[in-house]
Amino acid sequence: MSLLIRNGLVVTPERTAVVDLYVENDTIAAVSENLTRPAQKIIDASGNYVIPGGVDVHTHLDAPVGGTVSSDDFESGTRAAAFGGTTCIIDFATQSKGQSLHEAFGIWRRKAQKATLDYGLHMVVVDVSGQRIDEIDEIIKEGVTSFKLFTAYPGVLMVDDATILQVMLRAGKQGGLIAVHAENGSAIEYLVRKALAEGRTTPVEHAFTRPAIAEAEAVHRVIALARIADVPVYIVHVSCSAALGEIAVARQKGLAVFGETCPHYLLLTREELERPNFEGAKFVLTPPLRDPFDLEALWSGLQSGYLQIVSTDHCPFHFETQKRAGLNDFTKIPNGGPGIENRLQLLHHFGVNQGRLSLSQWVDLVATNPARLFGLYPKKGVLRVGSDADIVIWNPNQQHTISAATHHMNVDYSMYEGVTVRGNAEMVISRGEIIVDQNTWHGKPGRGMYLKRSCFAGAWNR
Ligand code: URP
Ligand code: ZN
Ligand code: ZN
Repeated sequence: MSLLIRNGLVVTPERTAVVDLYVENDTIAAVSENLTRPAQKIIDASGNYVIPGGVDVHTHLDAPVGGTVSSDDFESGTRAAAFGGTTCIIDFATQSKGQSLHEAFGIWRRKAQKATLDYGLHMVVVDVSGQRIDEIDEIIKEGVTSFKLFTAYPGVLMVDDATILQVMLRAGKQGGLIAVHAENGSAIEYLVRKALAEGRTTPVEHAFTRPAIAEAEAVHRVIALARIADVPVYIVHVSCSAALGEIAVARQKGLAVFGETCPHYLLLTREELERPNFEGAKFVLTPPLRDPFDLEALWSGLQSGYLQIVSTDHCPFHFETQKRAGLNDFTKIPNGGPGIENRLQLLHHFGVNQGRLSLSQWVDLVATNPARLFGLYPKKGVLRVGSDADIVIWNPNQQHTISAATHHMNVDYSMYEGVTVRGNAEMVISRGEIIVDQNTWHGKPGRGMYLKRSCFAGAWNR
């Protein structure tokens, strides 16, 4: 199949200009002005942007969390992602205590067989006893080149500082990247026990028991451990000004410290958790939503480059059948919220349209930087000759009202219900195949391919 995409405003790392793009089979074969090659399909992109498909490096599909399982699996989740202009995700193979890394990897490869988009996997490490630590080298050879550690969720995912250091040293030696969910899990556990003992059980207590400083403390500690191990580190879902400050200080020192935030931390505040009729539970995710000044700080973090990526941390649970488990006890509300479909729309509308981000910053944050940091560049995240033809034709003027009634995520609510954005994906192409065309789905389960990622190996200039 060959495609000729004509007259769109194409965003490449070199320039943003009206050029044509020629796709041969699954790859970009030419990017140039006035291309005249014969093509099986000619797409007129006049008035639209032509951007690389989004890369979402933080998703939880078919993920066991808090005694239940996230409601989007690899089929429904990747399909919803595609409708929003994302063409590639990285999800988490999660080791259980006593389990080998290979076993966890195998389980997630099987879950992901029905993916409609290309996908990679990070490895969540919780147990390095016995020979587990040696498995890191082999897992890297499988293309899992990033390892996630938690300083939160004691008894489930949390690991101690010695384990963090051990994994950092081992993975770092092989060129792997360490990603960390950074919050002080022990302090939070105490605050949670205290809240329950005092009879404070409503959703907003989730935020009160996970203060911003508990996040900043863990970020500081993790950066210190990364300095001891002399490895790069990536802080996931940065939610507050205090944590961002730790990253900024480290980067000013020239350290290889990277960070992501998510649309909900840029757009929503703790007030949402106080909604009546238990509706606050829809916004129970971790770290919690913060204060208005945190939102402003995070936007500045994106503008200054202290934060390089916007991911979704998509981890949806139905309100009626899953979130309600915590009606009388906020600790039983499964943590997480939906967002895989709305990332590009929200960042375009509240970032580009509102003058906070340039067009190329937007593309960098949602596609290019994630591909670069996580070993997928230049296959993904860029419109360049030889790259995979993962292309989005973005209509910057299309109005779209976000709603659970029309979204494609398998979840019964939206955190952005009724919000109207300007700008949406009109056509989505994955490896040369048109999978979304004017809101119609043409993809198939199982068409997504597993991506063996290369190592970080300093592929980034700090
Ligand atoms: O609330 C969240 N973020 N749930 C998913 C697990 C995690 O901490 O990323
Ligand atoms: Zn997390
Ligand atoms: Zn997460």
